[in-house]
Amino acid sequence: MYGTVIGVTLLGVHGRPVVVEAHIGRGLPSLTITGLPGASVQDGRDRIRPAVESSGLEWPLRRVVVNLSPGNLRKEGPGLDLPIAICVLCASAQVPRDRAAGLAFVGELSLRGALVPTPGVLSAAIAASRSGLRGVVVPEANAAEAALVEGLEVIGVRTLAEAVAYLRGSSTARLPASPPPPPREDPGVDFAEVRGQAHARRALEVAAAGGHNVLMVGSPGAGKTMLARRLATILPALSREEALEVTQLHSIAGLLGSSGLRSARPFRAPHHSISLAGLLGGGGSYLRPGEVSLAHHGVLFLDELTEFHRDAIEGLRQPLEDGRVVITRAAGSVEFPARFTLVAAANPCPCGYEGDPRRQCRCLPHRVQAYRQKLSGPLLDRIDIRLFVPRLSKAELLGEAAGEPSASIRERVDQARERQRRRYGHTGFSCNAQLPGPLARREAGISAGGQDVLARAVDTLALTGRGFDRAIKVARTIADLDGAHEVSSEHVAEALSYRMDLSEESLVRAG
Ligand SMILES: Nc1ncnc2c1ncn2[C@@H]1O[C@H](COP(=O)(O)OP(=O)(O)OP(=O)(O)O)[C@@H](O)[C@H]1O
Ligand SMILES: [Mg+2]
Ligand SMILES: [Zn+2]
Repeated sequence: MYGTVIGVTLLGVHGRPVVVEAHIGRGLPSLTITGLPGASVQDGRDRIRPAVESSGLEWPLRRVVVNLSPGNLRKEGPGLDLPIAICVLCASAQVPRDRAAGLAFVGELSLRGALVPTPGVLSAAIAASRSGLRGVVVPEANAAEAALVEGLEVIGVRTLAEAVAYLRGSSTARLPASPPPPPREDPGVDFAEVRGQAHARRALEVAAAGGHNVLMVGSPGAGKTMLARRLATILPALSREEALEVTQLHSIAGLLGSSGLRSARPFRAPHHSISLAGLLGGGGSYLRPGEVSLAHHGVLFLDELTEFHRDAIEGLRQPLEDGRVVITRAAGSVEFPARFTLVAAANPCPCGYEGDPRRQCRCLPHRVQAYRQKLSGPLLDRIDIRLFVPRLSKAELLGEAAGEPSASIRERVDQARERQRRRYGHTGFSCNAQLPGPLARREAGISAGGQDVLARAVDTLALTGRGFDRAIKVARTIADLDGAHEVSSEHVAEALSYRMDLSEESLVRAG
């Protein structure tokens, strides 16, 4: 009375095949799972028997032991319900054993035997394909993502009964048609809708072109949120490999729904009350990716930066440095990719109107100072571009809209990125923002005129070492947008205009 079936567990973003064995022996009716089942797998224990019984199948009224191997790996994710159920059915000869060979099974069961949408199916399918399996049996709702893996047979089923019917050969199981071509995701917003704000629009173009992080400071209603939302629309299109990674992460977080490939750059805007686990990952009964990983290859927008918890802001340092986040918990530690462009927004003072030409700031000076200190916290040295966003005048708001559309800005961004890729091809860096200071100085190619402007800035603008490197990187990006080999004095001057100094009394003057 023995059966064996393949399932998949998740380790960070990767799937790992798990051999599920079931033995039915003498003893009081019970189900024991051995082999380091995590909390989410133990959870399934109470679902599996009712699911089997309500599917018109029999649960063996004896002692059932299920073992998961490799034994040294903690098994996480609810997707092991289905392989455990099938394995018990193999052991009790209700399903022919040989039919399950060469297949991996993934899916969470409901008490009534339905297969509910299950997180991480794409990662599981990739793992199954890499370990040489012929196909996967998955919930129908997740069939589209599994079908992204080339050369893998995908059997989408709605219930445990359908999975069993398929294995018995009397199949009504629906094989998904070849996956529909991914619809070009429409982000629903476009730079064409932004009136005026030439300085901010340009700053975001530079940010997109060089991969720079951005801080926007301005009064309420200035359009900071509006501008930030549109940054994702001018980043270069995702490569297929990047899109697969994004899709995997969203699938593990349970956010994919029944769609296939995610082809648009993610834009994530967590509320400032977010917990550390929500931001960095690790929430829920298994290790889930956080907002920093859901923003992978896209934009993480922190609106009202000063309102975020201090530990959340501190926690962003690692992903900003490394492009990945390591989550450690009692259950072990996992790693998720987290390479995003950070956009932060804040008001210039507690009341919001400091520096506004048409409305008086009502804050006491020491409160403005305390507020600024909060703003110039640990994150700031990772933000290359900082600018003041003024409110539009009534005339500007009522005037003609139709700024340049995102698509045409993106063409310039694409070309600038291509230049950077060619220049840094051998180094492993892909854009200017990623360069360490010394390398940036060496590779920048600053003209004599540009050097002059920089030298003067060190005196007149009290440019620090860090500010110096930052200006060089941004100037290099501006030259790349310009198609210029050398960084000119104009490029440097523009870069210096994105260095709003938060310690200054009035942000407008500095911006
Ligand atoms: N440049 C602009 N062009 C068109 N509409 C704008 C512009 N700026 C602001 N608006 C309008 O004003 C609304 C408020 O802008 P938004 O929410 O982006 O401001 P904000 O700077 O984020 O303000 P807050 O500090 O209160 O968060 C927008 O939804 C938009 O309708
Ligand atoms: Mg806002
Ligand atoms: Zn104020």
